[in-house]
Amino acid sequence: MRTEFEIDYHSRRGRSVAALATTALVAVAGAALVGGALTPAQAAEPTFEPWRDAADDHGITVGFALSPGHLSDPGYRAIAEREFSLVVAENAMKWDATEPTRGSFSFGQADQVAAFATANDADLYGHTLVWHSQLPGWVESLTAPADLRDAMYDHIDAVAGRYAGDVVAWDVVNELWNDDGTRRPSVFQRVLGDGYVADALRRARQADPSAKLCLNDYNTDGVNAKSTAMYDLVVSLKAQGAPIDCVGFQSHLIVGQVPSTYRQNLQRFADLGVDVRITELDIRTTVPASASALAQQARDYRTVVEACLAVARCDGVTVWGIDDGHSWVPGVFSGQGAALPWDAQYQAKPAYTAVAEALGAAVEGSPSPDPTPTTSPSPDPTGEPGTTCSVTWGVNAWNSGYTGSVTIRNTGGTPWTSWTLRATLPGGQSLQQGWSAQWAQSGSVLTATNAAWNGSVPPGGTVQVGYNAGHSGDTSAPSGVTVNGTTCG
Ligand code: G3I
Repeated sequence: MRTEFEIDYHSRRGRSVAALATTALVAVAGAALVGGALTPAQAAEPTFEPWRDAADDHGITVGFALSPGHLSDPGYRAIAEREFSLVVAENAMKWDATEPTRGSFSFGQADQVAAFATANDADLYGHTLVWHSQLPGWVESLTAPADLRDAMYDHIDAVAGRYAGDVVAWDVVNELWNDDGTRRPSVFQRVLGDGYVADALRRARQADPSAKLCLNDYNTDGVNAKSTAMYDLVVSLKAQGAPIDCVGFQSHLIVGQVPSTYRQNLQRFADLGVDVRITELDIRTTVPASASALAQQARDYRTVVEACLAVARCDGVTVWGIDDGHSWVPGVFSGQGAALPWDAQYQAKPAYTAVAEALGAAVEGSPSPDPTPTTSPSPDPTGEPGTTCSVTWGVNAWNSGYTGSVTIRNTGGTPWTSWTLRATLPGGQSLQQGWSAQWAQSGSVLTATNAAWNGSVPPGGTVQVGYNAGHSGDTSAPSGVTVNGTTCG
């Protein structure tokens, strides 16, 4: 029989965010004006409805790891406010940040994270109470079991207690395993033994009875020795009656290496009666990232999101950061990076589009049909008056596909209020996905119509859009390019 907690917790999230979406869009628009610091090209350029709205339709949340110091950057803030329905502190709730000296607590940054969640009607996720890393030296030096247990309990009481009722879930114990499935010899393991995990869970339940209590780890994303050790522990904790509600799968992945058993692994934990979540998703590659790596990365992000959607007890997906300019990866893995869905200039990468599409996000700015056309619907071979254009077409190909980077310039003297680009694809090329426009293919004709936010192009102005396509050998750029029916120079 389920406990009251289990009944509450396992249901997926369901709330209306229509009003929030409006607020977030205003925030994005506002960000473009903050101090004049953010130009439209630097701002988040939404093509889809916010991830959070699309995720909400599935009853899941999309989260991100927040470092509150970055919020002063309008580009970062605009994406944070628009896209995410869950917030986790990247560092601010860890032991070294909250209790650097025994009994002396510091919640400045942690409170900023909590306040951001409240202001954006986002869930607050707690990370993390008991972890071997970012642990102050004074904890490491404790050798008497009773003393260390007291310190652990005091820490849980103070930190989980402060945010009780506000946090939806806590990573109570983080990274307790070695990769071979043996226990990591942290100070807690060495001094307290295996039982420290159940003890920490029970104490966290007392400190915050309404938070779900999770264990969280990396390299547990597929079925392997480490994830099986976690699985066996969940079975054991449940048999003991210890409060275990959820398991987090960090998913710090490498491009092209999503484990083949990813979904199966999530499902086997869900079948134990715990919720699961992708808690720290990023997918790194060698930098500078090639177009083919970014295309594979997009497929990998899609695979992860689709796996969560396929598992009824998956609460959602959290991305470990927002943009490649603020990621832990390059500092730890030399020569690696580009792991997040936005680049360092806050431009959406193919991975952003892949997540939006996996969530079924509606495309924003689709032109609605004009019910009372006043002009002939037949194509005007001479184009709109004043449409004069040039188009630069970049192709970055690999063996079976390529990324097209298209720069469209208004070379005339009249502003455009909307634009439609058409071109003929060489034989064997087929559109896969595009961004910053609405893309379509009919026969060999490729069409891109402006998104809601980039239809206005002043004389001399440019718009940059892109797409991925498959090919069967011919990687030459499309030909016969027109904008609004006029052949471009
Ligand atoms: O705050 C100090 C600053 O005062 C000092 O000048 C600077 C000098 O290096 O260090 C700053 O602290 C850094 C801290 O992040 C805050 O920026 C630490 O050096 C740095 O090691 C720390 O890295 C964090 C890492 O956890 C620590 O293990 C990353 O930002 C954070 O993304 C990362 O997150 C972890 C999850 O918590 C658990 N799972 C793995 C994940 C990635 O490692």
